[in-house]
Amino acid sequence: MELMTNLDRWREVRRGLSGPLGLVATMGWLHEGHLTLVRRAKAENRVVVVTLFVNPTQFGPGEDLAAYPRDLDRDRRLLEAEGVDFLLAPPVDQVYPPGFQTYVTVTALSRNLEGAARPGHFQGVATVVAKLFHLTRPDRAYFGQKDGQQAAVIRRMALDLDFPLEVVVCPTVREADGLAMSSRNMYLSVAERQAAPVLHKALRAAAHTLFPSAAGSGGVTAETLRDVVRQTVAEQPLARLEYVSVAWLDSLEEADGPALTPDSPPLMISLAARLGQTRLIDNILLGVG
Ligand code: PAJ
Repeated sequence: MELMTNLDRWREVRRGLSGPLGLVATMGWLHEGHLTLVRRAKAENRVVVVTLFVNPTQFGPGEDLAAYPRDLDRDRRLLEAEGVDFLLAPPVDQVYPPGFQTYVTVTALSRNLEGAARPGHFQGVATVVAKLFHLTRPDRAYFGQKDGQQAAVIRRMALDLDFPLEVVVCPTVREADGLAMSSRNMYLSVAERQAAPVLHKALRAAAHTLFPSAAGSGGVTAETLRDVVRQTVAEQPLARLEYVSVAWLDSLEEADGPALTPDSPPLMISLAARLGQTRLIDNILLGVG
């Protein structure tokens, strides 16, 4: 694996590469969630490029940009072991040269959920991902369902801006107790870590409310499902729910209106919660596949 920190040098190398190229974009502090994307990219492409860039434009004031965990040596060893070809880890001033003023905005899909809680976040994500797409020119780009709205925003951007690539969204990888893997889990105290699986438990409880109830019954409302999530999270005093959403997967608009059944169009139940200072997100899909 070649570690590249200079983008001019990388552009030269890129010109010499041929065959399908798979991209996995990350902010580092890698875990099995990231490595699952890498393995899928490896299985489906001839060349695999991983980018490691803690993107300042997607962090709001007061968020954890400075504290975000970083360990290039560790990440490098993990990727080397997976047979990754290139690790691209540019410094901030190469990605955002002085005078930078061009941003990508995906309008409606960025408005709700994380977009409402973190103003500007998806503009930062869409902008950096567009730049990474230009820099690496992948045939396939791999993202995790863990960040469900991000995946939707990127899919939309790739379509709208004519990026000639396939956006591949991979299932959320979880710890044995259900907690979605995340670089931010390392901020949790022992007690918070023990409490954290309540988030996945709450999502599952909502899913189970929709499914068995439906046989013969008239279905359930989105608000009923949101209540199940609220009540389940409330059982755990260390967890504070910020929002819960039951939204149509295609628009991410809340699925209010007629009762929902297992035959309804695909839904995403998502939430954000704080455990102490740490903000975690999770989601599950219903009626997909
Ligand atoms: P980061 O949080 O490092 O995540 C990189 C990729 O790994 C994202 O596509 C994310 O959805 C995926 N991922 C994280 N945890 C996962 C899990 N438990 N299971 C499956 N996939 C998981 O997301 C970002 O970085 C940034 O916003 C980025 C896209 C790199 C733009 O800066």
